[in-house]
Amino acid sequence: WAAGVEKNDAGEVTIDGIPVSVLKEQFGTPLFVMSESDFRSRARAFKDAFDAAFEDICGGVDVYYAGKSFLCTAVASWVADEGLRLDTCSGGELAVAARAGIEGAHLGLHGNNKSDAEINRALDMAVGRIVVDSLDELERVAKIASSRGETAKVMLRLTPGVHAHTHEFIATAHEDQKFGLSMAEDSTEEAGLSAAEEAVAAATSYPSIELLGLHCHIGSQIFEPDGFAVAAEKLVGFLAAMQAKYSIHLPELDLGGGYGIAYTPVDTPRPPAEIAQAMAAVVRSTCSELGITPPRISIEPGRAIVGSTTFTLYEVGTLKTVRVDAPEGAIGQENVTYPRRYVSVDGGMSDNARPVLYDADYSAILASRDSEAAPQLSRVVGKHCESGDIVVRDVYLPADVAAGDLLAVPGTGAYCWALSSNYNYLARPGVVAVRDGAARLIVRGETEEDLLNRDMGVANV
Ligand code: LLP
Repeated sequence: WAAGVEKNDAGEVTIDGIPVSVLKEQFGTPLFVMSESDFRSRARAFKDAFDAAFEDICGGVDVYYAGKSFLCTAVASWVADEGLRLDTCSGGELAVAARAGIEGAHLGLHGNNKSDAEINRALDMAVGRIVVDSLDELERVAKIASSRGETAKVMLRLTPGVHAHTHEFIATAHEDQKFGLSMAEDSTEEAGLSAAEEAVAAATSYPSIELLGLHCHIGSQIFEPDGFAVAAEKLVGFLAAMQAKYSIHLPELDLGGGYGIAYTPVDTPRPPAEIAQAMAAVVRSTCSELGITPPRISIEPGRAIVGSTTFTLYEVGTLKTVRVDAPEGAIGQENVTYPRRYVSVDGGMSDNARPVLYDADYSAILASRDSEAAPQLSRVVGKHCESGDIVVRDVYLPADVAAGDLLAVPGTGAYCWALSSNYNYLARPGVVAVRDGAARLIVRGETEEDLLNRDMGVANV
């Protein structure tokens, strides 16, 4: 839950003192409700934790908030206010950054298939770094920059063979995924030359490219520091080797995003300070072993900043109860069935695709009132024409939950609105930001008119 979320005396959930019934009245449901102060303090906390850990190594860290997790003009401006930079991955995200007035030097542009228009836009905006994903793209960026008579500031995204997901990481020599330049020695036709090294050599030879450094991103929703530390060690080693071999200086190293959050009580991510210190220890020791001046470190957290700042408010509609078998393997329960109640809400997979896409777990609470009723095993589902349209797979909600009640689902700040769709012609919900006891729309919810706007009607039939 975001800071500032509480229950009032009537048992109603409030944020900064504003009851959810008032938010519903004013803005409707479904609704994303975000705490601006929580966003700002998480952004600052991340920056402070990493700055503290890396202060003596490279004078601090540049934190690029990963806009893909959730971006709108207001959020981009908070990011800048708090001293963070912005990581974008499309022309559209650059457009939001421009609208928020973010300085070009504080922007990064990612993507494994940037269009010429996106590369030109990045150069128009004088972005601080274009993170190049492939040899093909390096050549394209070099050509475009050269035709403009400019120099593009570039980082190379490498794939260190470290993959992390939540509790564990695996390290492999080879990469079989679309992103980045492989560090495996046999990853190109040239014997002994990795794609990553080939890119360093090529980047150094293009007069229209200024090679700032290297980048990697090992995954998302990662709890433990180990994977980050292994990736950092590999990247520092490679950076040192390239500096020596090509007589160049690579001043920057970006270690990507991926820091996890707790969606339910079983999730136990390590605090940012602990991860920062583990990463700093490896960067410090590897640089000193190899005798190089440490590069300036940057990171790209998205979820860890915005994820917990937001909850989704839904209204309950229909309910039904079915009987389900006991879970497989439950001893002595072979012939036992249990009631499970389906609680339908007025949104679903169009405003939160994560349960469908990733089997993601969320929780929910009855937000509009107190209830003394016994807890009942419930499944919160959406209103889409799809049986997989689940919001919360298993949650105990009071037995008297009824149509018209409001449910709140926490932890929906990252990759929910961002991944939202108009499936079944549902309008995307708005996003409300709460600050100092006042709520305001930062993204308007769609209307039916918005939905019909792009449909050409019968004009072209
Ligand atoms: N940097 C790069 C290059 C990335 O690809 C990503 C996320 C980030 C930073 C930010 O990662 P974060 O700190 O937010 O984990 N839709 C999925 C997550 C996709 C992540 C894509 N890249 C989900 O909902 O779990």
